[in-house]
Order: sequence, then structure tokens, then C-alpha cells
Amino acid sequence: MTQWSRRRFIASAAALGASFVACHARPRAASAGWKERRDLYPEGVASGDPEPDSVLLWTRRRFQDGRGEARLLVEVSEDSAFTRVIASAHALISPASDWTCRALVGGLAPARVYWYRFLDDRGFGSRLGRTRTAPSSDDPRTARFAFVSCQNVNQGAQNAYRRMIFEDERASESERLDFVLHLGDFIYEIVWYPEDRPQGMYDRRLRGVVRYASGEKIRDFHIPTTLDDYRAVYRAYLHDPDLQDARARWPFVSMWDNHEFSWLGWQGLQVFGGATRPAQTRKVAANQAWFEYQPARVKKPSGAETDRFNPPSVVDTPVTVFDGSGLGLEPNNLAAIDSLTGYRAFRWGRHVDLLITDQHSYRSEDPCTRPEIAALATPDFPEMWPEEALVILDAGRTYDGGKPPLHLGSAKPAVPNVRRDRPPQTILGATQKEWFLERLITSRATWKIWANSQGTLDGRADPQNLPSGMTKPWHGAGYASLMGGGDYSSAYIERAEIYDAVQRQGITGFATVSGDRHSFWAGLATKALPPEPFQPVGVAFICGSVSAPGIVEALEHSLPKDHPLRALYLAAPQGRTPPEPAINLLLRRGVRSCLEYQSSGDLARARALSNPELAPHLSFVDMGGHGYAVVRVSCDAFECEFVCIPRPLERSERADGGPLLYRVVHRTPLWRRGERPKLEQHIVEGNPALSMS
Ligand SMILES: [Fe+2]
Repeated sequence: MTQWSRRRFIASAAALGASFVACHARPRAASAGWKERRDLYPEGVASGDPEPDSVLLWTRRRFQDGRGEARLLVEVSEDSAFTRVIASAHALISPASDWTCRALVGGLAPARVYWYRFLDDRGFGSRLGRTRTAPSSDDPRTARFAFVSCQNVNQGAQNAYRRMIFEDERASESERLDFVLHLGDFIYEIVWYPEDRPQGMYDRRLRGVVRYASGEKIRDFHIPTTLDDYRAVYRAYLHDPDLQDARARWPFVSMWDNHEFSWLGWQGLQVFGGATRPAQTRKVAANQAWFEYQPARVKKPSGAETDRFNPPSVVDTPVTVFDGSGLGLEPNNLAAIDSLTGYRAFRWGRHVDLLITDQHSYRSEDPCTRPEIAALATPDFPEMWPEEALVILDAGRTYDGGKPPLHLGSAKPAVPNVRRDRPPQTILGATQKEWFLERLITSRATWKIWANSQGTLDGRADPQNLPSGMTKPWHGAGYASLMGGGDYSSAYIERAEIYDAVQRQGITGFATVSGDRHSFWAGLATKALPPEPFQPVGVAFICGSVSAPGIVEALEHSLPKDHPLRALYLAAPQGRTPPEPAINLLLRRGVRSCLEYQSSGDLARARALSNPELAPHLSFVDMGGHGYAVVRVSCDAFECEFVCIPRPLERSERADGGPLLYRVVHRTPLWRRGERPKLEQHIVEGNPALSMS
């Protein structure tokens, strides 16, 4: 390693709040006397954010002998037997970071597997970790990565990771995954203790994996209020054997979604029971715990110490003044948001630019959380919001050339337009959006992949086409959105701004990967749907949750058996059980297909009654699926494989993590400028039934 590159790595490590581990001039034998003691490192090991010449390594080793700090030896080897150790150094840990350790190893070779471990001063070692560096930016090899989201250790099992590990171990070296992209809800800060719901949650048994020392109880669940509370959730989750094995096997590239801070949280604010309240201290605590437990190249502006986060001092203060993009200007709010910058980009070989964005720290208020508009969603039409009302809310004061209506559409009783004096909704915020568009427009990779924790695909239904007399008249003017706000399916203006830039700049190879929705989706990225012009500019994929419950499971428990519209959500043709997820059919084909399927049980006849204008952008929707997705990206195609497992109620004892329900691949040939992207669908195994086209 040259002096120049050494200085560069030291500066990088300092900027990341990580210790620096340099490569030796030549490999050495490992340190003598190493003895694995997993019990001393109960949260395992991890690596993150690989680049061609460096990667972050992580562990936690708590000392309980009263010392105020300690050093761990980090060793990196070219082989799993540690006979060729190419880097080693000491890293400082202390209670200030909850004894977590971040180390940046520099001077590595690109596209190469390495092994690493940590040792304390008595030679007691962590389990071994395996990681992989990124290929260099001119490397034409195919990139392979998995993307996941939404693991709930309190309510389910992480069989998806066991399946991923099982398949990867049996793949040839060139077919193995390069990294795992985690799109958030790595933890769920909302915790039901087993005694809070003795009947469980839907189909789930509640586990007592975490209890908050200073938690706040809201209704029948608990939320964290302090740094120690947030840290406790991460520790509890990392005790899950399958999650821990996955972190030890692949580098993770992680981004938070909402639950790393707060369910309906935005900026430094929380929303519970329709009330928005200041929560700057909790936002900082959430950021600090994330920083301590996720090895990621995120920026903390609070000093270069490697053993501590140095949180800014904030107080919970009401936020009342917002700028033109909805950013709360209250100083504690700004300090809390700025305590950690998560959005960032990675180049992976010639074909991948991964642009990772933060959907919660800078967003403006989600209109759908406002209690004044709750009447838009009624139990008569479960989960359905009039689309035209969401369009008005999104545009705020810019609607109709600056003439927003006083009320939202034709709903009765009249629902006030609570955003008629507000700027248009933004999810990225002004600064992040400028960064994102600049990176997107200047990318030279074959595929520009937007890693966006939230789904971008519209999910709508056509209640206006219901037979009259079946239920109350639909209170909207046309289509209904089933997404309930909060993501890009109702951030119409910002989505259009991004997609218009893609179109205007002639960008090809634009793909989005998302989580959050606890369901599998594949489709085309379009800013509008019929009757507006349908102009796809890219492809978009959403993965099912690893383990958190989805809407189908919720509907099975909460939708009344005698609801007049039950057949739109859960079908039971000829009284068959268990009910089938008709909501998949509703989103792709419309109400008439659902009613036909319920009546005849004949899928072909149901499909024949499709509404062709409802969802020309969608190829696949499974609102009940769990599992993960694998992406393969080459010079001429983008493939996304959905691997769907049964509802993960309990941990599978099988080495493969249990059976598969299906494996479906969507493939997009690289399109040329001016051409439309297209999706090809291949069922590899299993039967996705109502999810299919
Ligand atoms: Fe989630």
C-alpha cells in the first residue's frame, strides 16, 4: 500500500467513524492461540458497503470487567483457515458505542472473497465472517445480489435467510451472491409483548425477544424512548440465528425504512393516534443505534472518533415552521435529521450503479396520516382511497394551476383539502433529490438501480365498475388507490419529476428495487396510468417481507365474513378453504374479474373480464408472499427472481429453511433510447396462482 493510498484510507475510515485496518505487504500466518468463543460475541459479525478496494467489518464484544475501553484485533485472510492473513490491526471499542466495533479494511483486491474475525486480548475470537469486495468499474462480469426487507423477529422466523444461504452454498463460485441489499425494517420498533396479546398477532405467536427498559406504551404495544431501548432491539434481532448467519456470509448494503425510527415517523417527528409530536431525541437515538449496529458508509458529522457516535444534543421541540419543500426548520429537528446521512451510491462493476435513498428523514408530511381526511377511507371499501383526492392532496397549493379546491373530490360528507396551502409533497426532500437526480443523470453504468425502501408501483382498483346495488355507491370519482399513502404510489408530482428526467435525458436501464409493502410486485415504472397516457420509463420490483405479516394475513383475520365486497380481497369459490388472495386479482384485473372468480372459480373466465386500463404497468402482484428477491444484471438484461416461502410462522428445522411456494423470474432486455422497456415472465417452479398475469 502506498503512502498516498494509506493516507486516503485513513481519511476514509475517519470520515466513517471506523478504525482503519491496512493490508500487509505480503500475507502472514494468523495470530497464535485463537479460540472461537461465540458466547462472547453473541451478535455475531458483519460486513458492509464493499468497494473494489475496501469493506467495513463489524462485531460487538461486551466487556463486563469494569474497563472503560478495549481493543479488538481484526484479522482479514484470503482463506477460511487463516493461513494467509493479509490485514490486521487493533480497533478501539467502548461502552460509548455499546461495545460495537467498526473497522474499514483498505488495500484489498477487487471482486474477491475474504474471511475475517475478531480477537480480544486473551485470544478469544468471534465466529468467522466471509465478505466480498466489489468488482472494479470496468469489470464486465454479471452482478448478483439479493434484496430483502421487513424482518420481524418478534412475530416470525427468518427462514428466508436460511433458504438464501442454502442455495448460495450450493451454487458455483461465479453464481453466488455478491451482496445483500437490505431495504429497511431491519428491526420493528413497535413491540407487542406476549402478554399484550395472548391471542397472538394474526397467525403469529408473539415472542418475548425484547423488552424496553424505558419504553412507552401506546394502546397495546410498546415503543422505544431511549438509545438503550433502540440498541436493545438490534441486539435481540441479531440473536436470531438465521439473520446472524446471513450477516456473517455476505456483505450487507443497508438502508433504513420507517421502523428503524418510528412507524409513521417523518423528519424528527412521530405520529400516533393522528397526532404529530416532536421526537428529535428519539430520532437521534434511532440514528445512533443504526450507526452502531450497521456497518455502512454513512456520514456522521459529529467527529472522527471510532468508538463513539457523539450524538448532537437536542430537545423535543414542536416543529411549526416549514420551508418550501416541507422541511421543518426548527433547529433541533434539523440537528436530529443531520445526525446521520444515509443516502449514498455504489458502483458494482461495469453494469451497476446502485443509488440508495432515504425516504423518511427529509420527507414532507404524509397527507394520509392527517386525521381530517380519515373519512376518505371507509370500512365500506376496505383499503380504498379515491385516487383523485390523493392527487389533490399531493399537489397541495399547486393543484390546477394554483387553484386547489376547498374539498377533496365528491366525497360526502365533504372532506377538507388540508393541503391547499402547502407545497407539493416530497419524499426525498430538496437536497437529497438534487443529489439523486444528478447521480442518475450522470451515471455511466449499464443499469441505474434505484434502491428505494418504498414501492413506486401504483396499486389501484376500479370500484366504479362494481354492479350497482351490491354495496353503497363508491364515494370517489374513478379509480381507488389501495396503498394508503406514504409511498410513491401517491407522491405523483415527485415521481413524475424523476421519471420525466429519465425520459428527457434518454436514460435507459433504469430499474427500481423496493421493500416496505410486504408483498411481491413486478412492473413498469410509469408516472401515470389510463386514462392518462401510459409511458413506461423503466422497470420496478418490490420484494415480499422476510417475515413481517402482510395484508392478506391481516385481511384473513379482520375482514368480516359477511362484508359485501369480501370477494374482492379473499376468494372462496364454491366455499373452498383456505381463502385465496383475490386482492392480487383485484390489483391486476379489477372488480369484475374478482366477482367472476368468486362465482365460478374459473380463472380463465375471470381474466376475460379484466379491465385493461386498470393496471397495464403490472406483471405480477402477490400481496401475501414472503421471501426475498435475487437480481442478476449483465450487459444486456436485468433479471429479478422472486423466491417465495410459506408464511414463516415458526423456524424451519430443515437445512434449506423449508419448502418453496414458487420461484418466478422477470427479465428485462436492455432497451435502447426511445424504446419502451418490456418484462418477460418465467415460472421456474411452484405456482403463484392469482399473482400471475
Ligand atoms: Fe415493513
